[in-house]
Amino acid sequence: MIDGQKEVWRNVDAYLEEVLGEDDPILADALYLARQEGLPPASVSPAQGRFLATLVQMIKARYILEVGTLAGYSTIHLARATGPEGEVVTLEYDSHHAHVAQVNLERAGLADRVEVRIGAAAETLPVIYEELRPKFDFVFIDADKTNNTLYVEWALKLARPGAVVVIDNVVRNGGVVDAHSTDPSVIGSRAALEFIADINPPAAAVLQTVGAKGHDGFAIFVVPGDLPG
Ligand code: SAH
Ligand code: DHB
Ligand code: MG
Repeated sequence: MIDGQKEVWRNVDAYLEEVLGEDDPILADALYLARQEGLPPASVSPAQGRFLATLVQMIKARYILEVGTLAGYSTIHLARATGPEGEVVTLEYDSHHAHVAQVNLERAGLADRVEVRIGAAAETLPVIYEELRPKFDFVFIDADKTNNTLYVEWALKLARPGAVVVIDNVVRNGGVVDAHSTDPSVIGSRAALEFIADINPPAAAVLQTVGAKGHDGFAIFVVPGDLPG
């Protein structure tokens, strides 16, 4: 790694914010409250939040599932992008995180279209399945990486054919290449990538990213099956 490379990535993200528009006060305040409340700095970056919002708009996703809420920063991006008719269900294990997210979503005027469910996703996902709600159009997986394969399996059950599933943090500063890694997050990410490679290979991609959050990557795939209409 060339010294100063990370500074370049940060500078480019700062420039991109300048040219595309800085985070508005609601997004900025959401991150501020997260810091104030001692939450870890794991929210997607502003550039990544815009990217997710753009994907949601591209497929006109109405029903969105998020696994891993934290302070609701990504949730705000997703909920805005889905529009007033949209609905977001977001799953969070830590009740303090969920509380901070709820405050942020209320301040953002989005509480009516977002439901924050507290509990381990491995337990709340089956409950959502039992509720027979409309199938999700978009799923963002961004919680404990050790369970990524399980979350992908649930995404396949809960999302409609043609739905888009995005998994965050699958590159982890290059750690993903280490087949002998003992890091549970790397093991979890590698397992999830191997799993999605078998689902719908022509409609799966992994893209490395650099920026304010360092070197990481998103996995993206389209849920197979007969497309409606
Ligand atoms: N999507 C957020 C960041 C999520 S960070 C954003 O970009 O703004 C990961 C979150 O997943 C943390 O809040 C953590 O508490 C939560 N988490 C960890 N394990 C979990 C589990 N088993 N079930 C649900 N949430 C979990
Ligand atoms: C961590 C988790 C994330 O979801 C993320 O985007 C960055 C970091 C973490 O657990 O360190
Ligand atoms: Mg993440």
